[in-house]
Amino acid sequence: FSFWPGIINAYKEYMPVDEKTEIITLQEGNTPLIFAEKMSNMWDIELYLKYDGANPTGSFKDRGMCLAVTKALQNGDKAIICASTGNTSASAAAYGSRAGLKTAVIIPEGKIALGKLSQALMHGAIVIPIKGNFDVALEITRKIADNYPITLVNSLNPYRIEGQKSAAFEVCDQLGGKSPDILAIPVGNAGNITAYWKGFKEYFKDHKTDKLPKMIGFEAEGSAAIVKNQVIKNPETVATAIRIGNPVNWEKAVEAAKESGGFINFVTDEEILDTYKELASLEGVFAEPASAASVAGVKKMIKLDKIKKGSKIVAVLTGHGLKDPDTAISVIPKVNPVEPEMETILKLIGL
Ligand code: F0G
Repeated sequence: FSFWPGIINAYKEYMPVDEKTEIITLQEGNTPLIFAEKMSNMWDIELYLKYDGANPTGSFKDRGMCLAVTKALQNGDKAIICASTGNTSASAAAYGSRAGLKTAVIIPEGKIALGKLSQALMHGAIVIPIKGNFDVALEITRKIADNYPITLVNSLNPYRIEGQKSAAFEVCDQLGGKSPDILAIPVGNAGNITAYWKGFKEYFKDHKTDKLPKMIGFEAEGSAAIVKNQVIKNPETVATAIRIGNPVNWEKAVEAAKESGGFINFVTDEEILDTYKELASLEGVFAEPASAASVAGVKKMIKLDKIKKGSKIVAVLTGHGLKDPDTAISVIPKVNPVEPEMETILKLIGL
């Protein structure tokens, strides 16, 4: 391509569209695969960061939303709806506005990062905060979509998964037609791990890559329903994007981990926040807390000897750090204003 046309056009043979389909795109995808040199050296692995925060609305959701909205429009739908911890709502609002669809987003009151909320509002979605968490929001959203003329664009919508699998294609293309040994990914509602696994399998089947990676997924400890094998009524974590106690793609995530020879584990909030800071301060990559769960998981598994030295690992960074400025500011010591005096300022810089 002379320019990147978005994931539907770029991977058309793998997408459920034809020549007549009007494609709704913000040229999502083609995100950087960044070599993490310092972390690789520290941990004796080859670590790459799939920086999906570089998508148009700042998260991987755009990969699935462009297709979900394209198909809704093709189907003659007039409205879309989702429950969201924030990123899905931002993406639905953006693509919904572009397609001219009425867009409603149901969010857990007070538990959605500022950047995400501002996006949903700016794109003109009908934003409805509810007194309840994401799982409660999704339950009522599904009931509405089942009974009224409005299309669900959560990852239960199969087109979301079809679009999101493009990230696995890109990873293999960016590694020169090779699959990594391991794909590390945060797990919330478990749609993305499902989508990556589907993408890797399709590429492998078509001989576009050499092997299949082990899929390793990480939940946050306070919402680790899959790892603990129980629905969590009141999930809690600083990583609000994955604050989910009853993931809808639960079985598919377990299957992906099992089939690939990988696993699903959890990381603590402390581990998430440490890695969140390290990614930004060592590698120059600012990702939101939930995204850091993938790299925090890699770090933890290396310590526990669950990952072989020298492994080629791709860790998915699902959302941009700017999504959640409050958490960023809260983890760094506050800088108090000083007098505009040369001596004071030089001393602070260390000159
Ligand atoms: N990372 C980020 C930044 C997310 O926003 C999400 C999910 C995930 C990871 C987990 O992905 O659900 O496919 O396992 N966010 C959803 C939302 C729930 O509403 O934006 P998953």
